[in-house]
Amino acid sequence: MFGVFTFVILALAQCEKDKYVSPSSADSIEPTPYYLKVPQGFPDYFLEQQNALTNEGVELGRKLFFDPILSKNRDVSCASCHLQSSSFSDPRALSIGTNGTATTFHSMPIFNIAWMNEFFWDGRAKSREDQALQPVNNPLEMDLGWIEAVKRLSADSDYPRMFKAAFGTSVIDSNLAAQAMVQYEMTLVSSETKFDAWLKGQASFTPEEEMGRIIFNSERGDCFHCHGSILATDNSFHNNGLDGDADLKSGLYSVTNDQSDFGKFKTPTIRNLAFTSPYMHDGRFQTLEQVVDFYSDSVQNNRNVDVLMKKANSGGLGLNSSEKNALIAFMLTMTDSSFTRNPVLVP
Ligand code: HEC
Ligand code: HEC
Repeated sequence: MFGVFTFVILALAQCEKDKYVSPSSADSIEPTPYYLKVPQGFPDYFLEQQNALTNEGVELGRKLFFDPILSKNRDVSCASCHLQSSSFSDPRALSIGTNGTATTFHSMPIFNIAWMNEFFWDGRAKSREDQALQPVNNPLEMDLGWIEAVKRLSADSDYPRMFKAAFGTSVIDSNLAAQAMVQYEMTLVSSETKFDAWLKGQASFTPEEEMGRIIFNSERGDCFHCHGSILATDNSFHNNGLDGDADLKSGLYSVTNDQSDFGKFKTPTIRNLAFTSPYMHDGRFQTLEQVVDFYSDSVQNNRNVDVLMKKANSGGLGLNSSEKNALIAFMLTMTDSSFTRNPVLVP
């Protein structure tokens, strides 16, 4: 937020100065600041000042996100595995990259990442820009490599002009491309839900939704410890007892090398679940009924199961069917259908 305001001031100062410069410098006109609105009730987001959002940067990032030019066989774009209709995740349990091979994990939805600092299921990207650089290099995803990607973009009929408009230079490099994609991703903000209206006192829950809300936010369900707050995630890493010791996958351990992190994964937001099936890091559950059955009856008491999963030693919460339905009804109040249909988000 602070960064954006600073940028606006700098940009205005620049305009003042430009008035007195000869018209030949017209092609170095500053890009137009893009004002990212923080939804009511959301915390402020953090943005590196050097990557303040501009209309031109967002537009460039959107074009890059949807362009298969960044994959080796020119057949896969970011949007191939992050579909708007799926809240920018993938309806397939595993996605298929340019080499025809499956990804290791289920694709993650991309929205409200302005309020996240660590990315991927195992947290291996520590900034948005770091994340955005990885798919082009990943042999399971785009497998092109940035040297070749920069060559292709530089030879394209649109990109050099668009980089110039966004960043003041037509000399393309991977960091600028990543910054542009991040600018676009920052605009993927989703908050138009019944839940948000309820928070503002503008909607009321049905008795079933209200029952679900209470289970979710009390010791009965205990979901709020990890999926609480207005973002519906604590943005941290936990082991929620999906697997027994024999089947645990490394997760956060592959980043920290700390045995106590073995089998911990990033807590996904539970906003927009209506669009993000299948669920969990490997997409093992097709329905929310299966998810809730798991928390109720099949939690595995593995060596790193989170202390917040209190009933892990007895298989879970032991919910009855009306409690299960209520939890689902409550979670579905966080559904934002305008987001998955917003035409501004596609080129
Ligand atoms: C072949 C499918 C595929 C392609 C192409 C792809 N992704 Fe992903 N993306 C995934 C998968 C799978 C994950 C989760 C992977 C993991 O955790 O290891 C993911 C994770 C992410 C995340 C992390 C979200 C979070 O909450 O931590 C972001 C952001 C993202 N991708 C953006 C992009 C961008 C930008 C591009 C294009 C440059 C891209 N992806 C291309 C499949 C893909
Ligand atoms: C200890 C923290 C924790 C608690 C408590 C917890 N969860 Fe989760 N939840 C997670 C983590 C971590 C994942 C991802 C696990 C994975 O894929 O390995 C997850 C995944 C989910 C998903 C799948 C989301 C997606 O996009 O894949 C849903 C839905 C969900 N939890 C709902 C609930 C409900 C309902 C409760 C309460 C009954 C609950 N959670 C309690 C941490 C928690």
